[in-house]
Amino acid sequence: MPPKPIFPGSFDPITLGHVATVRLASRVFGGLTIVVAQNLEKNSLFTFEQRMDMTASAVKDIAGVSIDSFSGLLSDYIAQNGVGVVIRGVRNSMDFEYETQMSRLNAGLTGAVTLFFPSDPRYSHISSTMARQVAVLGGDVSGLVPSKIAGKLKMIINEQL
Ligand code: PNS
Repeated sequence: MPPKPIFPGSFDPITLGHVATVRLASRVFGGLTIVVAQNLEKNSLFTFEQRMDMTASAVKDIAGVSIDSFSGLLSDYIAQNGVGVVIRGVRNSMDFEYETQMSRLNAGLTGAVTLFFPSDPRYSHISSTMARQVAVLGGDVSGLVPSKIAGKLKMIINEQL
């Protein structure tokens, strides 16, 4: 049996949009592995450990979902783990352009296919960037991130301030 598809990302933090994609893709494939990027090109608000913790807690009730991580190139993780399918959520045409480029890069390096899942329209305006901004400025993140991690997220941010 081929390995489960992967759903890679920064998850800084995981949002309701990510969770909806995980639910949908894991229903289609009977599970998936979320792979959290350790080193990000952009500065992350949350540490790698915090991103792993929040991601794990947000998806713990979804059957067949496991969590792993990678550092460096995603294509190296794909090759080392025999991954055949990469899942990415797409919210709009800007995402589509970027994701197409990334999928071609990873396909060229590894042969893996990237499948795009259209975002749940209830969440297509949400991004981790927006959730970070709202949280840092003291706003209500309950419509942006899973309720299970909203408290934790605010606590981490309050500790940083
Ligand atoms: O959640 P994000 O930030 O959209 O996830 C992007 C991510 C981490 C999957 C992507 O930037 C990535 O694969 N980074 C690892 C470095 C790499 O492989 N870069 C080449 C493809 S952009």
